[in-house]
Amino acid sequence: MIKNSNIDLDNTYNHWFDSPYYHILYENRDNIEAKKFIKKILKYLQLAKGSKILDAACGKGRHSIEIEKLGYKVLGIDLSKNSIIKAKISENKNLKFLIHDISTPLNLEFDAVFNLFTSFGYYSKKKDQDILLAIEKNLKNGGIGVIDFFNINKVKKNLIKKEIVFKKNIKFKIKRKVYENYVKKSISFTDKNKQYNFNEKVNNLSLKNFKNYLSNTNLEILEFFGDYDLNPFDNIKSPRLIIILKKKSQSNK
Ligand SMILES: C[S@@+](CC[C@H](N)C(=O)[O-])C[C@H]1O[C@@H](n2cnc3c(N)ncnc32)[C@H](O)[C@@H]1O
Repeated sequence: MIKNSNIDLDNTYNHWFDSPYYHILYENRDNIEAKKFIKKILKYLQLAKGSKILDAACGKGRHSIEIEKLGYKVLGIDLSKNSIIKAKISENKNLKFLIHDISTPLNLEFDAVFNLFTSFGYYSKKKDQDILLAIEKNLKNGGIGVIDFFNINKVKKNLIKKEIVFKKNIKFKIKRKVYENYVKKSISFTDKNKQYNFNEKVNNLSLKNFKNYLSNTNLEILEFFGDYDLNPFDNIKSPRLIIILKKKSQSNK
């Protein structure tokens, strides 16, 4: 049996992800989009049925659930205890979830490791690189990595600076700003007479930055796409930067 890691959440983890308000704000996170993308990417990857796939930073498991339905063995990991509790409701023999930090390799090898929906770029350069090394270590030789990140150029161009969202009688005030090295989303609201302020910060990583990070690993880029329909990546217009990686061999780092 796989056990939850002995997690000591350091202050680099953004506790907003584990807050009940995070789940209220994003309650409608698109399961249909997740299902469509998983079908598409698995058709492209042509992994043998029964292959083992790690969903690194799985949240509540919307992608993991779809991957398992298509005949694969899936482990979803995330640091958010509340997300994993929700994900565990869907567990079965081929679908398991675990609280675990994606920057620490598991003692397991997978045929593929997915990191989806901008679940990367929250940390220092060193820790972001540790995450890539952990992905590498969790892959068999020849195994496939998929990183689905935003396209920073499109984000900059289409930035909605201010937005109000009502969910469950809570008025979420959202502000977005692009800084030199990161994009920041500030979320503030009042609930039961208490004021809350949270931030989501994601590093401004371009394809060039990823290439630079990956040069310290044994992961090579096979291909990249620009959206969930797997259209070619356009530096300006594409909404996503989806990088397909292959593990060359185990590194000593
Ligand atoms: C934008 S959400 C995406 C979740 C999921 N992939 C989805 O598409 O629904 C980012 C996720 O990354 C997780 N996360 C952030 N840092 C992490 C870390 N060091 N280890 C594991 N999970 C982490 C958060 O808890 C959150 O669930």
